[in-house]
Amino acid sequence: MILVTGGAGFIGSNFVLDWLAHNDEPVLNLDVLTYAGNLENLAAVEADRRHIFRRGDICDAALVSGLLEEFRPRAVLHFAAESHVDRSILGPGDFIRTNVNGTFTLLEAAQRYWSGLDTVAQQAFRFLHVSTDEVYGSLGPGDAQFSETTPYQPNSPYSASKAASDHLVRAWHHTYGLPVLTTNCSNNYGPYQFPEKLIPLVIANALAGKPLPIYGDGMNIRDWLYVGDHCDAIRQVLLRGRVGETYNVGGWNEQTNISIVRLICAILDELHPGSPVTPHEQLITYVKDRPGHDRRYAIDARKIERELGWRPAETFASGIRKTVHWYLDNQPWVSRVQSGSYRDWIDRQYGP
Ligand code: NAD
Ligand code: DAU
Repeated sequence: MILVTGGAGFIGSNFVLDWLAHNDEPVLNLDVLTYAGNLENLAAVEADRRHIFRRGDICDAALVSGLLEEFRPRAVLHFAAESHVDRSILGPGDFIRTNVNGTFTLLEAAQRYWSGLDTVAQQAFRFLHVSTDEVYGSLGPGDAQFSETTPYQPNSPYSASKAASDHLVRAWHHTYGLPVLTTNCSNNYGPYQFPEKLIPLVIANALAGKPLPIYGDGMNIRDWLYVGDHCDAIRQVLLRGRVGETYNVGGWNEQTNISIVRLICAILDELHPGSPVTPHEQLITYVKDRPGHDRRYAIDARKIERELGWRPAETFASGIRKTVHWYLDNQPWVSRVQSGSYRDWIDRQYGP
């Protein structure tokens, strides 16, 4: 089996669902269920015996070691993190705790467990660390895209904490021989993304007739990738990635924020014509910029294509339509997240 951390979050839950759709190998899912963890994302596998959920903190060394000894996974896939840049600006402490100390705790436990395996199991074991393109900092308009050798220049508390975790993972390979892999991915979008991030926030606000907040001049650029393509890239890296290597994952899809928001508005005008706020663009509202706002991210994803044959399958045109459809079809999911009632079941099951 494999151990996934953070498997109730946006990318983690998409990964668990995709994994079980492609494989019979069971998943042990360790997630502490912060505000970003939502077991409703995993409703489709609730009765599936291949999915074992444990609520717990990656910073709890005894818990993590106990789970490794009990379930004896052949790989750890580490998604768990605090992930929202705006929250990291308001309260960086949780980011240092989970992203830095949590990754350290997981590495120590994994290394101890791995040292006790027989040689064949040691050679097969992998620790796959899921990271971000934000560790590379911010690009100017004419700069080359981020490659695996671009120097780290993280600018936000979030990206600095992820950069620190990447360095720890690297060190555990070089010093202790732990067979690690790291992926640095660009901005994801798709089903089950918490509506604090740009795309789901804009869809939810537009449907509610609320302002669509654009930070600064709206000309910041991100490289958007459909979440299913990210999950596929992670499966390929786990299967065939070279131990100790990092792989950049991106969509070859640079877009300004304002063009993304205008496109979502146009799709909603078409799919939701009865809305009282058509055209939805009238809701666009320029607001104060994010402090330290990185201007441009762009990924050079040639290495993963060359070595592993991975390229995104989804175009942005098809992926963003699919995503808007998903949020239109799943408005109760959005409402329960916004009202906080998605936590009721967790509280009943585990206590508040
Ligand atoms: P998310 O915030 O949606 O989910 C994070 C999950 O981790 C939640 O389920 C949360 O409960 C869990 N978690 C948080 N702290 C924990 C702890 N101490 N112990 C156990 N579980 C804990 O995040 P996401 O957007 O799904 O991102 C997943 C990973 O991918 C992160 O490592 C992030 O840095 C990385 N990443 C995200 C993006 C993106 O666009 N969202 C892009 C590239 C990389
Ligand atoms: O690049 C990968 C990263 O992408 C991940 O590592 C992070 O976990 C993920 O949150 C994301 O970070 P961003 O800061 O790029 O994503 P966010 O959706 O918060 O913002 C996208 C862009 O939109 C960014 O330039 C800020 C802007 N924005 C965001 C919000 C929430 C707005 O203009 N208005 C908003 O209300």
